[in-house]
Amino acid sequence: MSAPRKDRAVEKQHVCPWWLAYTFDNPLRRLAHDPAKMFGEYVGRGSRAADIGCGMGFFSLGLARLVGDEGKVYSLDLQEKMLSRVRGRAERAGLGGRIETRQVTADNLGGEDLSGGLDLVLAFWMLHEVPDQAGFMAQVKHLLKPGGVFFLAEPRMHVSQEAFAASLKLTQEAGYDLAAQPKVSMSRAAVLKG
Ligand SMILES: C[S@@+](CC[C@H](N)C(=O)[O-])C[C@H]1O[C@@H](n2cnc3c(N)ncnc32)[C@H](O)[C@@H]1O
Repeated sequence: MSAPRKDRAVEKQHVCPWWLAYTFDNPLRRLAHDPAKMFGEYVGRGSRAADIGCGMGFFSLGLARLVGDEGKVYSLDLQEKMLSRVRGRAERAGLGGRIETRQVTADNLGGEDLSGGLDLVLAFWMLHEVPDQAGFMAQVKHLLKPGGVFFLAEPRMHVSQEAFAASLKLTQEAGYDLAAQPKVSMSRAAVLKG
């Protein structure tokens, strides 16, 4: 059986394959990346957040715990195989009602219904896989509430200091303010205000 059209497109891009996500999305990860400590000041009960490039959903689940039943987390990824794992994990954790998965394409995040409505957009260890970073940042800005937070983290292993600085320059050009550069384990990170 051949892969669906969107998944065939993914095979041609340089994106993290679904099976590789098991190497970093595991029960020990909470020791390095605690979602409550990382995002607790940006979201609370009733907040709306997007986890773009959510992979198997480690952060989507953490965010869903923070936003409560009144809030919502939109989990976006190129790969349906990632999204089906997010849904499975969310159901098992009793968080299914707080998480909505959406399959997107590399150049179109969609989300017209969300525009100007999100308190937080998270892009964790995914930006280096995006071919058009400037276009991506403009789309994220469109989704955020005025003053909403774009939390960006890239893996130190794959993204040099220079490459991260170049991405931050693009965020400035897209109209974000750099609010903080928090310490995040194994990462280069920035908190940007839209
Ligand atoms: C290295 S994984 C990180 C997953 C997750 N953020 C985490 O930290 O566990 C990168 C993910 O980003 C997704 N991705 C890459 N480019 C994307 C894009 N343009 N839009 C949405 N998802 C994308 C990949 O399919 C993959 O699931």
